[in-house]
Amino acid sequence: FSIEYHDSIGSTNDRARELASEGATDVVVLADEQVGGRGRLEREWSAPSGGVWLSIVTRPDIAPAQAPLYTLAVSVATARAAREAGVDARIKWPNDVVVPVGEDGEYRKLSGILTEMEGETDRVDWIVVGPGINANIDTDALPEGATSIRDEVGDVDRRRFVQRLLEEFDRYRTDLEAVVPAWRELALTLGQRVRVERATGEIVGEAVDVTESGALVIETEDGQETVAAGDCEHLR
Ligand code: BTN
Repeated sequence: FSIEYHDSIGSTNDRARELASEGATDVVVLADEQVGGRGRLEREWSAPSGGVWLSIVTRPDIAPAQAPLYTLAVSVATARAAREAGVDARIKWPNDVVVPVGEDGEYRKLSGILTEMEGETDRVDWIVVGPGINANIDTDALPEGATSIRDEVGDVDRRRFVQRLLEEFDRYRTDLEAVVPAWRELALTLGQRVRVERATGEIVGEAVDVTESGALVIETEDGQETVAAGDCEHLR
């Protein structure tokens, strides 16, 4: 990957989309600070100086339906890099990297990912996967429920962190079948009682597994349901 670094930028995903539409591939946009960071579901994402804010542009030969695997691969890569830094990082379905608090599924959020893509119905043209990691930041500069690497274990070498994240991602993108097994090992959500909000309504039950495409399998009172995408809450 070649890296385009910015001290300060609006959103690394916006810049990555621009590069992608100009034909770029295997480029990473990295910033110390974002002033217009974007989260999932049109939310704002707070991205002060000291974090690891990046967006990866690739042009994989995959169908759009496989794109979630790319996001899962980045969440696995992020969790691995954080664990190497000494953080007890786990994954909350589908792709938030979190640090557990206690034993009952409570957590603080360390990282989220915003994935955007363009392409036909049968093939992706480009995909931008943008993980944001609260690295060397005081948690009081972050929203409630968030944690940072600084708060968990002290400051991390961000250059090394990014290098490890990209190495792990590079390994999984060429071996997509390995993504879900690796994800399972890091999952905090499996075995939890969850509520998942989908466009078509909510599902409550026990999260028992993920499918080979990364969809969550939930055991409800009326049998098993599989959810491909949605907002997941751990219940107690
Ligand atoms: C979420 O959990 O809602 C996803 C947050 C994604 C934030 C990252 S920071 C790097 C990249 N650029 C952005 O504007 N957003 C993503």
